[in-house]
Amino acid sequence: MEVRERLDFQARGIDAALRTLTSRASVREAVVLSTCNRAEVYAVCETTEGGSQEIVSFVARFHELDVSEVLPHVYERTDLDAARHLFRVAAGLDSLVVGEPQILGQVKGAHAAGNSAQTVGPVLNRLFHSSFGAGKRVRSETALGAGAVSVSFAAVSLARKIFGDLTGRTVLVVGAGEMGKLTAQHMRSQGAHRVTIVSRTLARAARTAQAIGGASAAPWDALDSALSASDIVITATGAAAPILTKARIEATMRSRRNRPLFIIDIAMPRDVEPAAGEIEQVFLYNIDDLRATIAENLARRTSEIARAETIVSEEIDKFGGWLRSRGVIPTVVALRQRFESIRRSELQRLDFKLSGLSPDARARLDEITRLLVEKLLLTPTEQLKALTDGDAAGAHAEVLTRLFALQANSAVSEGAGVAEDAVTPRPTAGRVEPFPSAARSSR
Ligand SMILES: NC(=O)c1ccc[n+]([C@@H]2O[C@H](COP(=O)([O-])OP(=O)(O)OC[C@H]3O[C@@H](n4cnc5c(N)ncnc54)[C@H](OP(=O)(O)O)[C@@H]3O)[C@@H](O)[C@H]2O)c1
Repeated sequence: MEVRERLDFQARGIDAALRTLTSRASVREAVVLSTCNRAEVYAVCETTEGGSQEIVSFVARFHELDVSEVLPHVYERTDLDAARHLFRVAAGLDSLVVGEPQILGQVKGAHAAGNSAQTVGPVLNRLFHSSFGAGKRVRSETALGAGAVSVSFAAVSLARKIFGDLTGRTVLVVGAGEMGKLTAQHMRSQGAHRVTIVSRTLARAARTAQAIGGASAAPWDALDSALSASDIVITATGAAAPILTKARIEATMRSRRNRPLFIIDIAMPRDVEPAAGEIEQVFLYNIDDLRATIAENLARRTSEIARAETIVSEEIDKFGGWLRSRGVIPTVVALRQRFESIRRSELQRLDFKLSGLSPDARARLDEITRLLVEKLLLTPTEQLKALTDGDAAGAHAEVLTRLFALQANSAVSEGAGVAEDAVTPRPTAGRVEPFPSAARSSR
């Protein structure tokens, strides 16, 4: 928990992280996925080794830590292993609560943040869209998500284990976001007698309470009195620093005359100062304490995991084919450059013959020859880009390189960092027009 809190990108700003990351020379594209359970950087880099070092040093610096503090917690995946990791994450296979639905939305949010910061290029765009597809297939084609508990449900189950029965218990939910709402709902359906939602924005708490039915809302400044009156407190806010400090809970315990208080903190970063767990009669749990409850739930769905992994593998094969096919991009670029240089040198060679043309006619001639080249290249380019089999793409690239004596540009090797439109001919919508009448008459 402590490490995840220190590496939480949400708190320091995803946008700032993306900008800092892509200002580094070797990082071409980047997306940061930061949830309560993970802090991950997805990047397209010049080289694997250089990129990896840059990313680790960025993570440390961005969080004002030393690289040596970060390194022991780093896991690193490259190429298709990185893709497989993301697909498993999006499918809920790498979640604390396997199969939980929230993570797919969080992966989509990370991609959207990269898009608005303009740090997503063709490779990460395809990677993330493919991961959404994998996530959706796992949800619709397996029963992995059916009966999967959310973190909030696991928290309510833990409370039920402790108390045996929640009927007659007074419950306080702090936070009225997605987790707060789900928690209050589960508490009500488990028979909790009184459920109060306290949130920073009273109107949101009131809306949530009304939507659930049988729950009430209280203003933020009533938090201490609500704490005093509750048996069970579940905290789920997006606050960057603890809301319930040890001192605050100590004061509450005095007014409760040491009646036991059960607090389950499902926020990340935590809402409750960990030292509060040292107070007598305070029983404090956090997300990591929910693992046993979650494991019991998972045992019932284990058979679905193998099916979900098969779907992930199928989607990886498709993505791998696309990635390998990008190997033809340097060839496409070189082919276009070759044609363009032939066009230019021919125009130059014929310069003395064309000297009688008016400037308008010269410009028209330039345009016509350019369009001819574009048209000639359109179909081969599309066919090459459509190849999804990496071996076939390599073979085609080799033949073209020989036939046209190409020299693939090393700056665009493996196609990384090349915008799609840089390799797509753009013939204007119409035909290659003959000389307009004015130009024709001047010939
Ligand atoms: N979503 C998940 O799958 C998931 C799973 C496990 C744990 N969690 C953790 O649960 C917590 C809540 O997640 P969520 O998805 O419910 O978030 P959310 O929908 O964004 O809701 C956040 C809630 O926290 C309140 N809040 C934000 N900043 C605050 C601050 N500085 N002081 C007081 N209240 C503040 C918000 O109040 P306003 O209405 O005033 O903005 C809102 O009620 C987070 O710590 C998250 O890491 C989430």
